[in-house]
Amino acid sequence: MELTLTPALAAQPAITDEEVRTALDTAIRQTESCLEEFSLQFKHTFSYDNFYGPAPNDQWTNGFWTGELWLAYENTGRKEFLEAARAQVESFRSRIDHNIETDTHDLGFLYSPSCVAAYKLTGDLRARETALLAAKKLASRFHEKGQFIQAWGALDNRDNYRLIIDCLLNLPLLFWASKETGDSKFEKLAKAHLNTALNVVIRPDYSTYHTYYFDPDTGEPVKGVTHQGYSADSAWSRGQSWGVYGIALGYAYTQNETYPELFSHVTNYFLEHLPSDLIPYWDFTFTDGSTEPRDSSASAVVACGLLEAARHLPEKEADTCKQIARKLMKVLVDRCSAQSPEESNGQLLHGVYGRKTPYNDCIDHGIDECNLWGDYYYVEALTRLSKDWNPYW
Ligand code: GLY
Repeated sequence: MELTLTPALAAQPAITDEEVRTALDTAIRQTESCLEEFSLQFKHTFSYDNFYGPAPNDQWTNGFWTGELWLAYENTGRKEFLEAARAQVESFRSRIDHNIETDTHDLGFLYSPSCVAAYKLTGDLRARETALLAAKKLASRFHEKGQFIQAWGALDNRDNYRLIIDCLLNLPLLFWASKETGDSKFEKLAKAHLNTALNVVIRPDYSTYHTYYFDPDTGEPVKGVTHQGYSADSAWSRGQSWGVYGIALGYAYTQNETYPELFSHVTNYFLEHLPSDLIPYWDFTFTDGSTEPRDSSASAVVACGLLEAARHLPEKEADTCKQIARKLMKVLVDRCSAQSPEESNGQLLHGVYGRKTPYNDCIDHGIDECNLWGDYYYVEALTRLSKDWNPYW
């Protein structure tokens, strides 16, 4: 497995340990400044003019804010972060008990950085039980015909008979559930989905489809379609980043020996399609000279993927992964991070949630804004760079 140090990456300095420490201190101050407003309520999925408003616990992104609180607690040991995170964990129990927007594959995004984190960090048994309820619900979305977890909507809805690449990040909840309970069913389904997804979403040039449909009668793969990318055949940069981190986590849990090679190809596609300033456009259809917005969050996700892969690869490859992650993070810290609560109540500026094009079916929202996963993965990457981190995933 070999990662490509493009000329732009070769010229880019890596973040130093001291710069990581300073950036993490700034990030923790940013989180702290939100405690009063966002302990008993959540942040909306994306900011408006770099400021988040409040939201209930009914979005796919709520777990990232709770995860950011856990990271702040883990990095400081301070009880105000612990108390805020604990209050939110209880809200996730209510959400699963009352089935509030839980007909989705996003249960991993929701319950790994909130309840699994709570259990791993504090031994909270109620959080463990809550995360297991979410894992059961996620497992119930698995279709035997096609061998995949359905992303969105009711399971009998033929128009929704598809997976999406993002789901790779939901699988750790299932792997964790098997380890915790000794019930291999969760792991079996996660492995089956991983295998199916990697077979269909990765194109011959190692770019990726966002979503992939199957025939509900036969389970045969039908076609790749985008939701948030520029078009069906384009490479949505965040989708590619979910691929990078998802394969790294898949390797962590399965040790499948074909994954390191796949990881390097999918990661290289991302690195080779970065513009010269190394901040990804929201879709790789666009490059240097385009006025389209950037999606900083994709880069934060890739940095985490590289640092996760580094934990499982031989030393030489691991060092390359870490070096590239440090370069990507130097760019994000220097060019995209919020420096004060007056500038933003988030962490990572210049993300994109959805951008409407004639060829996709999403709407314009969260453009050139903070978003909750960008904030979370930015702080996760800094945490990973500052110590030997035990993943919430
Ligand atoms: N998982 C949805 C997104 O990445 O926007």
